Amino acid sequence: MASTLTPATLVWDEEGQPFCPEFGDYYFSKHGGLDESRYVFLEGNALLERWANQERFVIGEWGFGTGLNLLAVWELFSTCEAPPKELLFVSFEGSPLCKEDMAQAHALWPSLAPYAAWLQEAYPPLVQGAHELRFGSLHVRLIFDHARRALPLFPTNVDAWFLDGFAPSKNAEMWEESLFKHLATCSNQGATFATFTAASKVRKGLEAVGFKVRKISGFGKKREMSVGEWGC
Ligand SMILES: C[S@@+](CC[C@H](N)C(=O)[O-])C[C@H]1O[C@@H](n2cnc3c(N)ncnc32)[C@H](O)[C@@H]1O
Repeated sequence: MASTLTPATLVWDEEGQPFCPEFGDYYFSKHGGLDESRYVFLEGNALLERWANQERFVIGEWGFGTGLNLLAVWELFSTCEAPPKELLFVSFEGSPLCKEDMAQAHALWPSLAPYAAWLQEAYPPLVQGAHELRFGSLHVRLIFDHARRALPLFPTNVDAWFLDGFAPSKNAEMWEESLFKHLATCSNQGATFATFTAASKVRKGLEAVGFKVRKISGFGKKREMSVGEWGC
């Protein structure tokens, strides 16, 4: 029987930013979470350029957290000139936020308010397993489970990966070799990835499963981040 999960315990710092005491890390940059999400994940995967004239596009995310990356993608999908006809966003989360904490985080980005309101309305109960949410031609599959159990439920045609676990130094479990193997198994030809980290363990792990990895300038105070393509 599917079990009900305990919601994440968050701490809000003096600037109103969510911090996760379990991992000792922030959910997103304190210096502009939305700008970071756009730079690292949307631009890092060249979504806008790659979407033009696509029938269907699949995004796979590691670590749903507050849903900020989904909201940023949704805004781009709704406002760009040539979005794909259908967009599937698949993400997992082992310690889901309660709806109240999610809403408090969303309030940090007033420009995303319409998307945030829809997500809050559709946010599923914190029950282990896959939850399907539909917003017109955007389909979201949100898997509440540990990465190890969630990744085998991902589709095998992911076009772009958002690797957004906490920092590898604080969450080694999220960046294990066995998890990287799922990236290769679930990647479409030409799939890309982007992640905020340039840690050598992560770059080597991705190279070992067939990704061509590049370091580029990081967001804000981060010197470097990583992007790359699979099967080139
Ligand atoms: C940096 S936060 C994600 C931020 C998120 N993308 C956002 O937009 O708010 C990393 C997330 O990964 C989740 N996580 C960390 N390790 C995990 C694991 N092994 N399995 C499942 N989820 C995990 C954490 O609970 C956290 O919500």
